[in-house]
Amino acid sequence: MTADIEPAAPGLNAWIERGRLAAEREEGARATARTRRFDTIAVHGVYDHLAAADNQGAIIEPAYLAPAQHFADSDNLEAALGYLMPAWGYTRIANPTTHYLEETLALLEAYGTDLTAATVVTGSGMAAVHLATNALLAIDPARPGATPNLVASAKCYGGTFMLFSRYAVERGIGLRWVSDPLDAAAWAAAIDEDTRFLYAEVPSNPALAMADIPALAAHAHAHGIPLVIDSTVATPALLRPLGLGADIVIHSLSKAIGSSGLAIAGAVTARRDIPARVGPDDLRADFATHLKLLPARDLGASLSPAAALALLSDLRTLRTRMDAWSRSTMTVARYLSGHASVDTVWYPGLEAHPGHALAARDFSLADGDAEGRPATRYGNLLSFTLRGGLPAARRAFDRLGLVFRATDLGRVKSIAAIPSISTHQQQGEAGRAIAAVDAGLIRLSIGGEHPDDLGADLAQALEG
Ligand SMILES: Cc1ncc(COP(=O)(O)O)c(C=O)c1O
Repeated sequence: MTADIEPAAPGLNAWIERGRLAAEREEGARATARTRRFDTIAVHGVYDHLAAADNQGAIIEPAYLAPAQHFADSDNLEAALGYLMPAWGYTRIANPTTHYLEETLALLEAYGTDLTAATVVTGSGMAAVHLATNALLAIDPARPGATPNLVASAKCYGGTFMLFSRYAVERGIGLRWVSDPLDAAAWAAAIDEDTRFLYAEVPSNPALAMADIPALAAHAHAHGIPLVIDSTVATPALLRPLGLGADIVIHSLSKAIGSSGLAIAGAVTARRDIPARVGPDDLRADFATHLKLLPARDLGASLSPAAALALLSDLRTLRTRMDAWSRSTMTVARYLSGHASVDTVWYPGLEAHPGHALAARDFSLADGDAEGRPATRYGNLLSFTLRGGLPAARRAFDRLGLVFRATDLGRVKSIAAIPSISTHQQQGEAGRAIAAVDAGLIRLSIGGEHPDDLGADLAQALEG
C-alpha cells in the first residue's frame, strides 16, 4: 500500500493526510476480503481492481524488485521514513509485493473468526521463529536481574530446538522443555513469573504430536503471556490457531504454503492486543506490525520480493492442495499401518495416534469438501518406524525410486527423510530423547503424485 502520488498541497501534513486516505482505502479492501471465502481470499487477498489500477492494470501482483522507493519531495521522505504514512521506502523494511503476501496470509490465518490479524514475512521459517521469540525475551526493566524463561514443547523442528538451546547457552535464557505436549500438568508446572511465552508446534515435525491449543492459551493468558504456535505442517487451510485462542502463529512458508519449492521464507502472524510481559505498548497492540517496523528492519532477515511473488502464486491453491494431499496421505498411512515390516505409523488422522481426538476436534478443511460439507483433513506429513530399527529404515530409504530423499517437506514432490541423522542430528541423542525422535523414524511428506504410484514405490522399498 503506497500513497506516492503528489498531494494537492505540499507539506508534511498533506503527505500524512494522503497516507491516511490510502490506509483507509486498503482497510476497505481488507473488509471486503473478510466477507469472502477462503479460496477467494487466497487468490485475491487485498489486490483488488483499485490496486491493479495503481499497477498499470496488472491482474497479477507485480514483483517490485527495486531496492528502494523514490519520494516526491523531502516531506514525502520524512513522512514515509517516520512511519507517518504508508510507504515502502526500502525493501529490507517493506515492499509492495511482500506486502500483498503479508495481507493475504493475515486474512487466511484469521479466516472464520472476527479477529484482526497482521503478518510480517521473513527470509526463512527460522528467521520467523527467531524474530517472534527474541522480541518476547527482552530484558524487563521492571525486574532487573531476573532471568526470562520460555516454556516449549520439545517435540519441535530440530532448528527450533537448536535456536532455543542457543538462547539458553549464549544468553542464559531459562529453557523449560515439555517433553509430552499433551501433558497439561507439565505445562502448568513449568510457568512462573519470568516465563515470557508458551511455544508448541501443532502438529510437530517429525512426530506429528498434537497440543491442546485452547487449554494452553488458557494457561498462558492466566499468566499474562502469549501462546505461540508453529502451524507450518497444518497450514491455515486445515488449522487456524488464532481462532482456537493462540496469540502468535509461525509458519515456515518454505513448506506446504510454498509447495513448488521456489522460495525459502517464513511468517509471523499475530492477533491484535496480545498479552505480553514486555513492552513497548505497540508490541502488545499489534505484535506483527511492531516486529516489521522495528526489530525485523534492524535484524534484516527480510524476504525478497521475487520469493514473495512465487509464494503468492502457490498460496492461491493452498486449500485444494491440502485437501487432496491429506487424502493421499491418509491412504498411504493406512497402507503403511497394514504392512508387516512397519512397526508404528504416526499420523494424526489414524485413530491409534495419541493426538487423534484433538486433531479431529481442531483440524477442519476451510469451507469443507467439494460439496461444502464440513470436512476434517489431517495434512500431508506422516512418520513411521520399521521393525528392523535404523538399519531397516536406511535400507528402505535407500531403495526409494520415486520419492526423493531430502531434508524438506510440504513439497509438491513426495520426500522422505530420516530426522535422527539429518534435521534432528545436531540436537544429539539426549535432545532427541526429550523430543522422542526415534533413531529409525522415517518422515514422509506426501505431495501431488497419485497415491497408487507412491504405494508402489513404498512397497518395493520395504521389500528390500
Ligand atoms: C515446523 C517447522 N518450523 C520451522 C521450520 C524452519 O523453516 P525454514 O527451513 O524455512 O527456515 C521448519 C523447517 O523444516 C519446520 O519444519
